[in-house]
Amino acid sequence: MRLGALGIAAAHVTSNARRGQPLAKPRAKHASISLAASAQPAKTARIAAGSHSNPRGPGLALPTPVYPFRLGAAAEHAELWVKDDGAIHPLYGGNKARKLHAVLATLVAAPPRRILTFGAAGSHHVLATAVFAGVAGIPVQAVLLPEPHTEHVEATFRALIGQGIAIEPALSKARALPAFLRSYRRGDQVLGPGGAGLPATLAYVDAARELERQVKEGALPPPDEIVVALGTGTTAAGLLAGLASTRLTSRVIAVQVIGGSLSRATTLGLAWRAARSLGLRNTRGLAERLTVERGELGSGYGLPTPSSEGASRRGADAGLSLDPTYTAKAFAHALARTARGPAGRVVLYWHTLSTLPLAPLLAGSPRLAELEPRLRQLLRPIRR
Ligand SMILES: Cc1ncc(COP(=O)(O)O)c(C=O)c1O
Repeated sequence: MRLGALGIAAAHVTSNARRGQPLAKPRAKHASISLAASAQPAKTARIAAGSHSNPRGPGLALPTPVYPFRLGAAAEHAELWVKDDGAIHPLYGGNKARKLHAVLATLVAAPPRRILTFGAAGSHHVLATAVFAGVAGIPVQAVLLPEPHTEHVEATFRALIGQGIAIEPALSKARALPAFLRSYRRGDQVLGPGGAGLPATLAYVDAARELERQVKEGALPPPDEIVVALGTGTTAAGLLAGLASTRLTSRVIAVQVIGGSLSRATTLGLAWRAARSLGLRNTRGLAERLTVERGELGSGYGLPTPSSEGASRRGADAGLSLDPTYTAKAFAHALARTARGPAGRVVLYWHTLSTLPLAPLLAGSPRLAELEPRLRQLLRPIRR
């Protein structure tokens, strides 16, 4: 079992069934990814409902750094800090690396024949699944939905194709279920969008505890607010439940980047489940500590806004690269909250995007023009 190559060992999982025909199986299989690159000291992860013990993280470089973000600040500004998960793993970073390690740890005892998962064309989750399951020797099939065509989305899309996974395009939401049914095979392990679920949520419970240790060690002041992008809500939910198990009193400000009104309920549901699995009694306090911020969504998922573009420029000036779909919107909100002050308040922006160059993952990827039209159509032109 090659999960050991990622330093992963652990728990148990369920698997499922049916058969399907992938449309595309591109060529390069981890052409330039060296397993040795991930061969950090193996630590045992135990990830199961009610028990999550993963103090250093398997194959992950923990703790991830924290640093102050210099604003050339007006005196009345709050302080802005960054907790940077971007380089948490040498192959691919961001919140997906934390989550995927926790998810794969649950598969060690009974590795599935294949992982079947979902995402938008430029899904960081699908790319991370392709990378980490690929290293573990588990084939991946992904049902992909269209996404607005930005440079970042195109690069991520080509990178995930370059990992040699099978892709079933679903050119509209209505076609997602038929695409899933066509894809599903006996023995598949189905992974929901964003890897959402208890193991992934518990990964961010650990991350909240990691933050508390950094505060205790004096690496940063206790944050009043933690600002993070909200997609499936798993990351925010894990932080919320994890914070409730620490002495930190920080609120979680989850910045919604996907339309719809269920984000708060979904996030709280995931947080409650994680908190209960940890034996935490006061789950009512979770709702009071969560703010879902909808003001950054603009015209919708994956569509840049003037404020997200401004935030991207400010991040880039300071060496923090942001993606238009998730992190630019979250960072824009962190900047706005910081500017609101008051002085002395501490805002922590949690960076969830991989900061590693995509070039090694793009080696061997087809160019866009080389792809079948049904794959190319997954990138939707943006009308301004
Ligand atoms: C870079 C990045 N940040 C944040 C998120 C949102 O994380 P979650 O789905 O846990 O809410 C995603 C999800 O895809 C992501 O790719």
